[in-house]
Amino acid sequence: MNLSDQSLPLDFRNKILVGDILQTIKSIPDGSVDLVVTSPPYNLKNSTGNGMKDGRGGKWSNASLINGYADHKDAMPHEAYVSWQRDCLREMMRVIPDHGAIFYNHKWRVQGGMLQDRQDIVNGFPVRQIIIWRRAGGINFNPGYFLPTYEVIYLIAKKDFKLAPKANAVGDVWEFPQEMNNPHPAPFPVALIERMIQSTTAQVILDPFMGSGTTAIAALKQGRTYVGIELSEAYAAMAEKRIQEIENVWKGPIESGQQRHNHDFPLLSF
Ligand SMILES: C[S@@+](CC[C@H](N)C(=O)[O-])C[C@H]1O[C@@H](n2cnc3c(N)ncnc32)[C@H](O)[C@@H]1O
Repeated sequence: MNLSDQSLPLDFRNKILVGDILQTIKSIPDGSVDLVVTSPPYNLKNSTGNGMKDGRGGKWSNASLINGYADHKDAMPHEAYVSWQRDCLREMMRVIPDHGAIFYNHKWRVQGGMLQDRQDIVNGFPVRQIIIWRRAGGINFNPGYFLPTYEVIYLIAKKDFKLAPKANAVGDVWEFPQEMNNPHPAPFPVALIERMIQSTTAQVILDPFMGSGTTAIAALKQGRTYVGIELSEAYAAMAEKRIQEIENVWKGPIESGQQRHNHDFPLLSF
């Protein structure tokens, strides 16, 4: 079991803090969370050639991300976006101790005919590995390149980080279908986050772009503590509702003396 260098204030445990990431994360002490698991906004509304930019969207015109997020347009100038994400990563590095790590999920894309990987964001951070998240499909309106079917998860690790015993055996290509039953425009699948959390012995997990609360659900299922940050009050409320629903499902077994984090418990439509 890992213990963080400093403890996370009790007020923050299993809480979602509503606010801007860079302002809110300042209240989280240095080295007080063992693991960060997150997926930032991808800045997709300024993509070329995939229909997101002008909102046409072709057969995906109903895709909710075409409208951006509730309180974030997802269309920053590229340089400003990279600089913002690097500031966010610096803060994530501050709040993890020497045994900590960050699973930073992102998506490569083709911009103006050229591959845009996210090296400009992660350059200089201690990227230890890139995990491929193979999804069930993707969106591409451009006949000039193949349909993208994967996203990348950067494992950014401080010097003493180790995986849980035997977790390395699952390999570095993970197949999980994307989440379809979630009104948030860009939710993680719960199983993907569970894989990340299960792969570590981390006890306290931060998601500073918490969205609909998937990281919180996965942390609770794994018997860990979460703390989240989310800009949108509406998404934070969505997350709290999901968490409450799962807590209600667990209440019965807990009251009858069974172990709480038993994966056999029935799940709602997460
Ligand atoms: C890709 S989504 C995360 C989805 C989440 N993984 C889930 O499963 O629901 C990114 C989230 O970042 C939030 N966000 C955007 N700008 C933010 C900011 N400045 N501070 C905190 N959260 C922000 C958006 O509202 C959105 O919910």
